[in-house]
Amino acid sequence: MEISATITGIGRYVPPRVLTNSDLEKMVETTDEWIVERTGIRERHIAPPEWATSDLAVEAAKRALADAGISSQDIDLIIVGTATPDMIFPATACLVQDRIGAKNAGAYDLSAACSSFVYGLAMAYGAIIGGLAQRVLVIGAETLSRITNWKDRSTCVLFGDSAGAVVVEACPPGQGFLSFFLGADGSGGDLLKLPAGGSRLPASYETVERDLHYIYQNGREVFKFAVKAMPEAIEQVLRRANLTQDQVKWYIPHQANLRIIEAASKRLGEPMEKFIVNIDRYGNTSSASVPVALSEAVDDGRIRPGDVVVLVAFGGGFTFGACALRWTGS
Ligand code: ACO
Repeated sequence: MEISATITGIGRYVPPRVLTNSDLEKMVETTDEWIVERTGIRERHIAPPEWATSDLAVEAAKRALADAGISSQDIDLIIVGTATPDMIFPATACLVQDRIGAKNAGAYDLSAACSSFVYGLAMAYGAIIGGLAQRVLVIGAETLSRITNWKDRSTCVLFGDSAGAVVVEACPPGQGFLSFFLGADGSGGDLLKLPAGGSRLPASYETVERDLHYIYQNGREVFKFAVKAMPEAIEQVLRRANLTQDQVKWYIPHQANLRIIEAASKRLGEPMEKFIVNIDRYGNTSSASVPVALSEAVDDGRIRPGDVVVLVAFGGGFTFGACALRWTGS
């Protein structure tokens, strides 16, 4: 390959309102101790009631553009990964395109649940090396609080809202993205889903009464899938890049449950110190979790130019995926 692609700008936006475990103790039958022990989560951030996913995405996008030192008009493609679009259509990416004034960009949403950001990076890479685009804005943004059943203790303790964005541009081979792996197992589709509001079960009084517009999951089955899928995605992506685990400086896993990340580290025989973890402060923010964690680790100097970093995610679908990259600096 004559060219590769890399991240040249990164930004995140986390809404200021914090919902702690002790706040949740007042809403459902739960305890801080249970939540911390079973998930690693201590608090999560919730978007203001009048905000939607595009509002968070716009803030993260502006920060990524500023970090890359380019204007919105330099962008020729916008991909928003989200499971909580403002509407089924138009795409949230089009709303972002308008709000940031990216008048030269095409725009679409990508639906791979929590793996959407990793999938989006792969699409950006493909668009750049295929000559379809030169500068791509990839965003992972979610307002999961809008599809969370705040009366269901088995799910409401898990989720939060946030957004992360990156600018992707061409770079010399051997730098930036080194390999991708994308996987899916659609047979697990019923184990993690938003049952109603699509063409299978359009919204009706009955769907609302039966709480079918909220996230449904079989937590144990999702857990089992995740602890297999994350190590598999990591092994595949390293093999494709001809890398060994020793060469990896950092893993940035989707932040769904600390125990899932610990299980992945154990399976791979890698120390937890190599995994970037912020789930204690944000909970599971689906497609935003990987770019937000990446952005924090870049800002606080943990990730440095030259570091090999592996991004890895799993989510509804089921989907899973990973990206190996050599950080070039943003
Ligand atoms: N507080 C107190 N007790 C609780 C709570 C709570 N918040 N939630 C569940 N419990 C109880 C259950 O009722 C159950 O009680 P019982 O034994 O009397 O029936 C007990 O705790 C154990 O429940 P389990 O479901 O077995 O708990 P588990 O250890 O599996 O943890 C969890 C549940 C945290 C959901 C875990 O299964 C998990 O993290 N799964 C993966 C979830 C995930 O990653 N989802 C991805 C979604 S991302 C996306 O695509 C939007």
